[in-house]
This record gives sequence, structure tokens and C-alpha cells, in this order.
Amino acid sequence: MISEIEKKIKEVSFFKSKDPKEIEKFRLKFLGKKGHISYFFSEFKKVKESDKKAYGLAINELKKITLAKLEESKIKGISKEKNNSKFEDLTRPSSILELGSRHPISIIRDKIIDIFYKIGFNISEGPEIEDDWHNFTALNLPEHHPARDMQDTFFINKDPDLLLRTHTSSVQIRHMENNKPPIRTISPGRVYRNEDISARSNCFFHQIEGLYIDKNVSFSDLKQTLIFFTKELFGKSKIRLRPSYFPFTEPSAELDIYWGLNTETDYRITKGTGWLEIMGCGMVDPNVLENCKIDSNEFSGFAFGMGIERITMLLYQIEDIRILYENDTRFLRQFKNSI
Ligand code: DAH
Repeated sequence: MISEIEKKIKEVSFFKSKDPKEIEKFRLKFLGKKGHISYFFSEFKKVKESDKKAYGLAINELKKITLAKLEESKIKGISKEKNNSKFEDLTRPSSILELGSRHPISIIRDKIIDIFYKIGFNISEGPEIEDDWHNFTALNLPEHHPARDMQDTFFINKDPDLLLRTHTSSVQIRHMENNKPPIRTISPGRVYRNEDISARSNCFFHQIEGLYIDKNVSFSDLKQTLIFFTKELFGKSKIRLRPSYFPFTEPSAELDIYWGLNTETDYRITKGTGWLEIMGCGMVDPNVLENCKIDSNEFSGFAFGMGIERITMLLYQIEDIRILYENDTRFLRQFKNSI
């Protein structure tokens, strides 16, 4: 008797079908009122006392695997039904496609590009992995020059010397090496600094560099260009050029705009002065022109460089730089209608 149950167990384990009719037939054959399992149960009383335990366990095993098989076959049967094109409703509306939004850094970068494009600047780009020459030496920052300490650098390799560019000023050099004046170009891109990550700084960020080289370019050209820019981007034209130092410009300045002191936030972000620092700038140092084989007696020019994150945070009143890199859709969704 037990060997008969074992035969049925084998039969169940070999059963395979996705056809609902076959599955029902299988169910009736084993679990129906007149099926094998109820037959084996009805025979229980005839089994010898000593075999009763093993017999009972065998029937239970048969019942268990029959139920499991039935469940498995039904699931497979349902997925087959789903794949069958007969059941597809072609008139059903499609699922909603949600439009993405542009990242705030991209929005502000493009706004800045558009402003300079209007006054004849083109766009140039350079590599993020730079060599020492383009990032430092050609910019009048020779090896061991203390001004290199202004920018904590991620060095990659010593020979050949490779590093992650610390500023987009390296693109100035590449552009001057490959183009003859007049030059009017802006270079947006990502830069890297070996700095701690906090609400105000990150180990990478974005900059836009500007460069203008021609005959007779003077400091007043720089000033007018910057006034045009601040009016266009911030709607403010009260600026001041505060003396500063950069190795690649002489003289050098820091551009501040008068933000105002209308709200409590204005007091906080301008440290009570009303003035905000926006970018570094100056007249290109003749050494830099000569390094790029441009005659500094014939040509002069100005350059400037600004951080895009800083401006983005100002314009959108973002307090913590890190939120710009988290890509939390709840944050990004808010820029859907910004252009
Ligand atoms: N490269 C500078 C920095 O990362 C910014 C800068 C200052 C760029 C003055 C310039 C410039 O072109 O003239 O801090």
C-alpha cells in the first residue's frame, strides 16, 4: 500500500501543465471526493497497526506536494494568460509620463552662458584631469610658489604630472595655445578641491571662466562687461572692484555686488555689509600671455572666474550646498518651471 502512495508522489512531482483544464483534471484526480487521496484515507483502517504511522505520513506527504503543485501550476497559468495578447486592452490609457526638470546648477550655468553669448563670447571646454602646466605653471604659478596653497589639490600622478583641475582657468591656457586673438570665450566646467565637505564647501563644484584678449583692452572694458553681467543676472548694477591677488592677473580684483539690506537674510548673507563677493577677476598677467605665445606688447586682456554653486545658492536661497548633489526628486521637482 505504501509503495502505491510513493508511486503517486512521483506522478505528482512529474506533473507539468499551464492549461487550466488539465490543472483542474489533475486536482480532481488527486484531491476530488473520489480522488486518490481520499481513497488512501479510506483504506487507512485496513492497514496493519505497525504500518499505520508510516502510512499516515506517506498520505500527508502526497497531499502536501499535490497542493504545492497545484498552486505552482496556477501561478504559471495566470502569467501565461497575461502574456497572451488576446487579453490586452489596446484602448487603455497609457501610464502617465512625468517630465523631468533641469538641475538648478544647469539652469544658472546656462543663464550665465546666455548673458555672455549676447556680447560675443563663445564657449570653450577643457579636460577635468589636467597637467601641472595648464593648471598652475602657465598661469604664473611655478612649482613651490606659495600661491599654490590657495587651492588644495587632488594630485593623481607625479610623472607625467596629472591632477584634478582646481579651477577652469586651465581652459584659458588651452584656448590661448590653440587660438589667435581676438579671443572672447567663457569656459564652464567642474573643478575639484581637496576640502572638507560642509554646508558651504564641497570637494568638487562648478565654475565659469571668462577670457577676453585683443588689442587695447583695458580695465574699463572689464568693468563695463561685469556691470552688464550683474545687471542681466541679478538685476543689480551697483558693484565695486576690491583689490585682490591672483597670480595670473595684474592688477587683480574681487567683484562685489551691492545686494542690499532689506531682509534679515540679507543681513546674514552679507554679514551686515550689504555687499556680496561674486567672482575674482583682473587684467591677464603679461607672463601668462607669453606662456601661450601671445605677444604681450601687442595684446592685452581681462579674465574672470566665478563659482556656479555660490550664485545658484544666492538666487534660489539655498542654505546648504550638499542638497545640490543629493538628487532628491522632492528638491529637483521645484525647478520644473524654471527656464
Ligand atoms: N581661478 C580662480 C579661482 O578658482 C578664479 C579666478 C580669479 C579666475 C581671477 C580668473 C581670474 O580668471 O582672473 O579661485
